[in-house]
Amino acid sequence: MAISFRRLLSLVPLGLVPSAAATTLRPRIFADTNRDGFVNQLDEPHKHDWTASRGAIFLPNIGDSDRRCPVADLTGTPLSNDELWRCHDASGDRLIPSSAAYAAPLLTLPLPNVSDNAVGHIYTEPAHTRDRVRLFWKENDWSTGYSTVWATVDRQVTFNATSLRNGITLAIDGRELVTDEAVWDGSVKVVFEVTDGDRKARDFVAMKQAPVLIHHHLQQAEVVLATAPGDNQTIGSSWQGHFVRGVEKAIDGDVPTVLFNQSTDIWAQDFLEPGYASMPGPDGPISIRVLLRSAQSTREAGRQVFSQLRSAGIGGFQPGSGSGFGWEEINSGGNIETIPPYTSRKGKRWPNGRVIMGHHFGTYPAESMVKFLQSQKAQSPLFLETGWLAVGHVDELVQFLPANTSLGFTMAVADTTSATALLREADASGHGTTPFVSYTGDATPDELTIFLDPAFLHNTSVSSLLSDPSFHDTQAYAQRYIDRNLALLLSEIPLQDSDILRVPTLFKDVNFPFLPATPDGHPPRLSPLREGERQLKAMVPQAINGLVLGNGKYLAPKQWGPVVDGRDIFAEAVEEVYGRVGMKVEWVDDYMSHHVRGGEVHCGTNALREMGAWWEE
Ligand SMILES: *[C@@H]1O[C@H](CO)[C@@H](O)[C@H](O)[C@H]1NC(C)=O
Ligand SMILES: *[C@@H]1O[C@H](CO)[C@@H](O)[C@H](O)[C@H]1NC(C)=O
Ligand SMILES: *[C@@H]1O[C@H](CO)[C@@H](O)[C@H](O)[C@H]1NC(C)=O
Ligand SMILES: *[C@@H]1O[C@H](CO)[C@@H](O)[C@H](O)[C@H]1NC(C)=O
Ligand SMILES: *[C@@H]1O[C@H](CO)[C@@H](O)[C@H](O)[C@H]1NC(C)=O
Ligand SMILES: *[C@@H]1O[C@H](CO)[C@@H](O)[C@H](O)[C@H]1NC(C)=O
Repeated sequence: MAISFRRLLSLVPLGLVPSAAATTLRPRIFADTNRDGFVNQLDEPHKHDWTASRGAIFLPNIGDSDRRCPVADLTGTPLSNDELWRCHDASGDRLIPSSAAYAAPLLTLPLPNVSDNAVGHIYTEPAHTRDRVRLFWKENDWSTGYSTVWATVDRQVTFNATSLRNGITLAIDGRELVTDEAVWDGSVKVVFEVTDGDRKARDFVAMKQAPVLIHHHLQQAEVVLATAPGDNQTIGSSWQGHFVRGVEKAIDGDVPTVLFNQSTDIWAQDFLEPGYASMPGPDGPISIRVLLRSAQSTREAGRQVFSQLRSAGIGGFQPGSGSGFGWEEINSGGNIETIPPYTSRKGKRWPNGRVIMGHHFGTYPAESMVKFLQSQKAQSPLFLETGWLAVGHVDELVQFLPANTSLGFTMAVADTTSATALLREADASGHGTTPFVSYTGDATPDELTIFLDPAFLHNTSVSSLLSDPSFHDTQAYAQRYIDRNLALLLSEIPLQDSDILRVPTLFKDVNFPFLPATPDGHPPRLSPLREGERQLKAMVPQAINGLVLGNGKYLAPKQWGPVVDGRDIFAEAVEEVYGRVGMKVEWVDDYMSHHVRGGEVHCGTNALREMGAWWEE
């Protein structure tokens, strides 16, 4: 921790200790209230009240810096989800040296005039915060600078006159996340209390744990995540290998990729949602990643948040049990996206953007995750209707992209109207007999290619689709819901309709062919089909459901649309749409690896993005 204590201490005369009598006892404790990365006298004003624009911040210190946390007990039995989560750098009582950078600094001002009998105590209020945060101190040694040993401060630790005269160097970190603001919203008061004979006085500084923020697409990807293909015994592994090679080729070394290798779950978007927490530091923000495991308690792949990724600077969140039991698709990470920073039409500021999630008619995502996101008090979710989709994730219909609008971003939405127009144009120019799907590669089914439809793949032409009334009916049904969701988003976000990018997309009724009654008694993964409604999925690999990498690069699922005059008319239209905001599309073939299994490039990838200051200056 590089803290400028010396600057402060040099302002205070040391050494001379006159008689204690008749002087006012005035203990003072400081933290980085003004958020300039340093603790000094500039932090005095308003230190008692934490507000959005002022107040000291600390981090949940929940990485695993020395990778000491086990994944199984001594008999080799895997730890429960809760046990797995509970171990991290702050789960013990020692400040692990390699994790000390994530502890926030405080100090007490030297009290040169106290008598030899003076004693001090430092503790947090309210009392329930004492299990939630940790306090440490170091002895100031003027000959060598600082001791390197952090000692635990608890209610029993008494600071003597020497320490009070020298001033005390402290650090604080959080040992749990804010999961329910009604229980704890992250606030603490750090109290410094001094008793000297019959004089007693106290001071305190208000601090708050940094909220966990979910990334948005104006933050560049720094690491791309996907799932390793596994050995050839796994269903679909050779397709996953093809997919990963395609993703890596498209990224072309811009950022590293990390492959999950403890599970064969290919949906890297879905079993976690990456976030972070930050506080001011002397050299810029100090940040820790907090990866939210999806609220899908039996989805083993989510354990990789802890068993594979948790490390120095990376911690995780395990949603509470009793909510998010099983593996319902509504709780997947693909159903959690983020509007970049904006001020709403009603004037409410969302300086860190706002989460969007889909509900399925009356059904909402797991309370443990919704409450977690609400309790951060930063990006409280806005709900869209996604029950009309078989899988039902928000990433199937909307996407936020950096753009030269007044907000610095715009929205792309799936659009059936422009897609149908493409088919009409092809038909009108004499290409009605062109096969609708141009994919000609291996299409050997396996157990999980549940949306592979050989008749559709081989026997559908542009004109056969256009002449099928149910095709138009399905597109109209989809468009109605897309338009409603877009209207809701536009009533909130001050973008113009002309800013919106409409990405050609067509849907198919699937009304899910199997509603797997899971043999282990867990709820089915898909929401039940509601009477009078339908469940749709993408007919052409869904271009909107791709990975926004940053620096204008966009990884989209290869279209395999109708080829007219040597050109894929869908690919061409999609490139034109993204090109309007300066984005270059890199095509990744996910037809067999993901498209016919129920998702696309976005669903099969994830990104750890840049982190930074979230507080208001
Ligand atoms: C210490 O006591 C002296 C003499 O009473 C007084 O002048 C001085 O201001 C006191 N210093 C502090 C820091 O209280
Ligand atoms: C005061 O406390 C410090 C730190 O625990 C210790 O090193 C020192 O010996 C103590 N001084 C006295 C006079 O007890
Ligand atoms: C898996 O199959 C691919 C293609 O058939 C082959 O190139 C590769 O060597 C195989 N890998 C293993 C580990 O058997
Ligand atoms: C699994 O991935 C990690 C990186 O997250 C890597 O360090 C490790 O070597 C990989 N293990 C295997 C068996 O490939
Ligand atoms: C395609 O249509 C032809 C003629 O109707 C039929 O014989 C053939 O079985 C169909 N192919 C597939 C894969 O459904
Ligand atoms: C956005 O605006 C900047 C600055 O005016 C310009 O350099 C850039 O080319 C614009 N990008 C697009 C996609 O229009």
